[in-house]
Amino acid sequence: MAANYNNSAWFYDRLSRVVYGKALVNAQVYLLKQVPANSKVLIVGGGTGWILEELSMIHSSGLHITYVEIAEHMMALSKKRNITDNKVTFINDAVENVALPADFDVVITPFLFDNFTEQTLGKVFTHIQSLLKKDGLWLNTDFQLTGKWWQQVLLKTMFLFFKILCGIEASKLPAIEKRFAEAGYQVVDRKTFFGDFIVSEAYKK
Ligand SMILES: C[S@@+](CC[C@H](N)C(=O)[O-])C[C@H]1O[C@@H](n2cnc3c(N)ncnc32)[C@H](O)[C@@H]1O
Repeated sequence: MAANYNNSAWFYDRLSRVVYGKALVNAQVYLLKQVPANSKVLIVGGGTGWILEELSMIHSSGLHITYVEIAEHMMALSKKRNITDNKVTFINDAVENVALPADFDVVITPFLFDNFTEQTLGKVFTHIQSLLKKDGLWLNTDFQLTGKWWQQVLLKTMFLFFKILCGIEASKLPAIEKRFAEAGYQVVDRKTFFGDFIVSEAYKK
């Protein structure tokens, strides 16, 4: 079963701020400067949707955003966001089940893949990849392990917490960067946050 964050929707942002301060937000916002004006953007697993407001602060109009989120409670919160004059299509489903035109300029996957087993990651990755234009940009932010003991402790705690509450399937971090490398993507921008535990990467082929 895919990870569904319904049960955590009402406190997810507050809890993440308590644990990570603004790091989760800063890491995602860092990449948004890469989004070209008037582009067609796919956001997958945007949670409560605050990223829509951050993006609209950079481009107040001209964006065509498709926002795919599996958890209906997350979606309900996302729909209340101020998107200024941008156009957003909200789709409440698992992204791998949604047939979309393969013409996105930018794809954004913020803390989406950490939920998945290698098998689900493979399936979801392949599907999202097929939706991105040939010279499109993929903005990915997620956790990574760089050998610091506390990273493992935090990660295990999160997996346990979200397994009990939201039924997430993963109990270890899948090899996310490896997927991008194997699929032939190059890193065009990269920055780490929160003692290297969080990595934001912009990829192109
Ligand atoms: C760890 S949360 C991150 C939320 C948000 N990006 C943030 O940083 O605050 C992952 C989100 O992805 C959603 N999600 C998980 N699997 C999904 C899928 N297959 N398709 C679409 N959304 C999915 C979950 O419901 C959840 O809201």
